[in-house]
Amino acid sequence: MSISMVAEHARWPKENDAIFGLAARAKEAIDKYGRENVIDSTLGALVDDEGNLICLETVYNELKSLPNAAIAAYAQVAGQPDYLEAVQQACFGRYKPDAHIRAVATPGGTGSVRHGIVNYSNPGDSILIADWFWSPYVTISEEYGITVTTFELFNDKNQFNIADFKEKFEDLIKKQKRLVTVLNTPANNPTGYSLSDEEWDEVLNIAKENAKDPENKIIIVVDCAYIDYAGVGDERRKFFSKFSNLPDNIFVIIAYSMSKGYTMYGMRSGAAIGISSNEDIVEEFYYSCMHANRANWSNGTRAAMEVMIRIAKDPEKTKAYENEVKETKTMLRKRAEAFVEASKEVGLEILPYRDGFFVSIPYENAKKASEELTKENMFVVALKKGLRFAVCAVSEEKCKTAPAIIKKVLDRIDT
Ligand SMILES: Cc1ncc(COP(=O)(O)O)c(C=O)c1O
Repeated sequence: MSISMVAEHARWPKENDAIFGLAARAKEAIDKYGRENVIDSTLGALVDDEGNLICLETVYNELKSLPNAAIAAYAQVAGQPDYLEAVQQACFGRYKPDAHIRAVATPGGTGSVRHGIVNYSNPGDSILIADWFWSPYVTISEEYGITVTTFELFNDKNQFNIADFKEKFEDLIKKQKRLVTVLNTPANNPTGYSLSDEEWDEVLNIAKENAKDPENKIIIVVDCAYIDYAGVGDERRKFFSKFSNLPDNIFVIIAYSMSKGYTMYGMRSGAAIGISSNEDIVEEFYYSCMHANRANWSNGTRAAMEVMIRIAKDPEKTKAYENEVKETKTMLRKRAEAFVEASKEVGLEILPYRDGFFVSIPYENAKKASEELTKENMFVVALKKGLRFAVCAVSEEKCKTAPAIIKKVLDRIDT
């Protein structure tokens, strides 16, 4: 009999990351059949048409010109003060809420999602997320004895399902008197959906209605990891200004990430940004997150913070960086449009796409579909409720041809 040494709360199934496993198989296929004959839509990172990871020049020129000490040094536990200023500008742009705001640096957006879920839920509580979700929400929650409830992101007309959100939200708040809901918008992973400003009003109205009971504590975590690839201009940041003048018992935490917007995935930098009408509540947030930083990873990556600071402080560098992001965003939009258009042409059902790295295809037997697609040299991630196609990783040409292949394979399985 095998012996287990791990404490019960930390014992999990022996599972490897499914996405990285599929990515390795895609790489094998590329080596065997040539890149032109393989569609690798596995990883959630921007890749150019030749299959190389896109690394923004403005970011890496800055990184490589940093003095060694600015790379090697510890960062402050809460993050460098200049970074905590710059990150608010990078996140909100022209739409900073009129409220008390404090930021704490975290290693990537993951760290800030962690703070939102763990520091604002009691063990045994349930958080509320959409049924199309980024799986680390569950991993983080279960690590701390928190459970997850899902609402249906879309109704049968493929519109944002505000009715189901309301029902689940009110069920949970009634039971727990405290609720963390994580909304991954704009540019949702895995669907590419972004809540419209009107849909945000509906969400906030539900929160405000429930905030009339002063016993209720409502925490909205906005995971905006992909915000830099949403919209054409800055219209997808407009919703931030709605977080002004909220009741004290609605607290908003923005989970900000440098991973995508600065192509610094491995450099691990982000921030948790707390927004409240009440100064004490953001103070409490700041010290709670600082404690959690110290307890979990001590401090963030100094070099990544320095890069943001230096780009933000020099208007010319800011402009050059913004232009580079814009170019990348345009490339991504063209790919996504090609995929959406081709899906329409061949009659492949996809979920409503607005922005970002991914498009999703609802399909019950997704595991089987993903496996069958590998026989066509196409590598697409299977989720519980469908397939996730990463337009961020596939050229426009291939985004045009992929829907027909997927449709053919799904039809073959269905007959
Ligand atoms: C939905 C979502 N949230 C947050 C993140 C944050 O990632 P990181 O911790 O690398 O910044 C990601 C990255 O894949 C994501 O897809």
